[in-house]
Amino acid sequence: MDSIINFAHRGASAVCPENTMAAFARSLELGATGIETDVQLTRDGRLVLIHDETLSRTTNGSGGVKDHDLKELRKLDAGSWFHPDFAEERLPLLEELLELVQGTGTVVNIELKNTKVPYAGLEEKVIDMVRSYNLSERIVISSFNHYSLRLCKQLAPEIRTGILYMEGLYEPWEYARSVEADALHAYHFAVLPEFVAGAKAAGKVYHPWTVNEEEEMQRLISAGAAGIITDYPDKLAALLSAS
Ligand code: G3P
Ligand code: CA
Repeated sequence: MDSIINFAHRGASAVCPENTMAAFARSLELGATGIETDVQLTRDGRLVLIHDETLSRTTNGSGGVKDHDLKELRKLDAGSWFHPDFAEERLPLLEELLELVQGTGTVVNIELKNTKVPYAGLEEKVIDMVRSYNLSERIVISSFNHYSLRLCKQLAPEIRTGILYMEGLYEPWEYARSVEADALHAYHFAVLPEFVAGAKAAGKVYHPWTVNEEEEMQRLISAGAAGIITDYPDKLAALLSAS
């Protein structure tokens, strides 16, 4: 069996503030073989890693990510909301994560957060950054914006893409084919063994999210998922080493 990619969702987000360098580094210590993260553009066009389009939940700032230059965003505390021990954490850039994983073999799932904010040029910037680190083979670009994913595939056929969706697609692998996507990033309850088999026959793979219960991890491992996205890479690593 091919090894299942253990994707740490926003880094080790159960024990560190999400989408920080602390969370990414800790996830590797806990056994992650992949890291999932969320990317947006600053006002001055830099690739910054943060889940929400606004700053208030995970930093001491306010307003939209797109309304600030990087210099302002880098002053923000991106860790205290989680625990005072993380007060020095800053919003990371995509290049910092790529530097961290370079040479480690880690797969990075870069989610483009471009459904609510139509960041012009986001696809090109992410692709250029990935190529500049020579990491195309170790990247999966995902998004709920499937037009954006199709554009990524046209711009960079060598980089894998994954369609994010909640539920209810009929023959999801056929839909993935129409978007020219390589992977199905489905909400985990939407993933049935027959879907995984259908996808495999079409040359597609499943990376379900966000799977935090061991029983559900085991179900998806048995179903044939190629990767699992979790807040608990340590739990998944333990299950994978026992199986
Ligand atoms: O990649 C799966 C998952 O991250 C998508 O949802 O809201 O956690 O970014 P969200
Ligand atoms: Ca995400």
